[in-house]
Amino acid sequence: MNVSGRPTRTLWPSADGTAIEIIDQTRLPHAFVTARLSTLDDAAHAIRAMLVRGAPLIGATAAWGLWLALRTDASDAALARAYATLLATRPTAVNLRWALDRVRTHVAPLAPSARAAAARQLAAYVCDEDVALNRGIAVAGLPLIRAIAARKAPGERVNVLTHCNAGWLATVDIGTATAPLYAAHDAGLSVHVWVDETRPRNQGASLTAWELLNHGVPHTVIADNAGGHLMQHGHVDLVIVGTDRTTATGDVCNKIGTYLKALAAHDNHVPFYVAAPSPSIDWTLSDGLREIPIEERAAREVTHLTGRLPDGTVATIALLPEGSPAANPAFDVTPARLVTGLITERGVCDANAAALRALFPDKAQTG
Ligand code: MRU
Repeated sequence: MNVSGRPTRTLWPSADGTAIEIIDQTRLPHAFVTARLSTLDDAAHAIRAMLVRGAPLIGATAAWGLWLALRTDASDAALARAYATLLATRPTAVNLRWALDRVRTHVAPLAPSARAAAARQLAAYVCDEDVALNRGIAVAGLPLIRAIAARKAPGERVNVLTHCNAGWLATVDIGTATAPLYAAHDAGLSVHVWVDETRPRNQGASLTAWELLNHGVPHTVIADNAGGHLMQHGHVDLVIVGTDRTTATGDVCNKIGTYLKALAAHDNHVPFYVAAPSPSIDWTLSDGLREIPIEERAAREVTHLTGRLPDGTVATIALLPEGSPAANPAFDVTPARLVTGLITERGVCDANAAALRALFPDKAQTG
């Protein structure tokens, strides 16, 4: 996507070839700052502290992280250590394990002297593949928006609600939930996006709003609690969210609050779609509620808020009475029965095991 008119990905190899550069997402939307990852610890920190975040981007960063580790020590022990360090950074998005498994499986049979170069090549491929998968989601999801636009009066906008940031910033480029939105906007359809602010970290208000603004897509940021009201009054035509882990049966684990949007959408007959690239599908799981580990993040994300003061400086303030405890579960699970459909790179399918198996016979586990 464009940043100040320049096509930019969310991570890229540095010009001197010795590091990875990323956009430090903790600084958005108030500053566009890049950071350099030169070591395994840099990569692990970037994922843990959410300089990079979003399921596909976490996976891509981890793939590069293995390369950074293998550059200094490519022994079996170092590979195992790097794998374990990166896997422990965040528990919920399955893309992390998917990317690590992929690189480890590829390099482990090689001689140690060949491992770093092979990891580098595969990490670059994982990034390009992510972009291609998101293009597939754009192609698959665009007809959903077109169909709604066709039922509207000429010029009347299609209102799409999204939660968290499943956009360009959550991936290498384009985004998952945003892919059909950008495609519709670029095709000249009148699309307007309701952007859930997404407390506590405000990925909607800080990141989704920033990228939609950069691309010129009309949008309005709303408090998380506003979605149900907007649906009751016919102001939402469609919900599209991302996913951090989708089970083989179609349960969807995504940013905390997604489930409440799905309930409201169900009650108001608003179609609720999940943009789900295949690396975010965990083919080993069948019960999202019981089997997906939900990340519990620091209470400080709830108790404090960071923003820009009138003088332009960025400051963090306390919100709660001193002494009040806070809890911060970061994801929830939306049962498949509340999901209208999954938008994958191979097309849209129902959220159930048979439909997923039919679309991905090569990936689904048998038995
Ligand atoms: O905690 P985050 O910011 O990594 O959570 C991100 C989300 O929940 C996204 O909606 C999800 O990863 C899908 S991203 C394409």
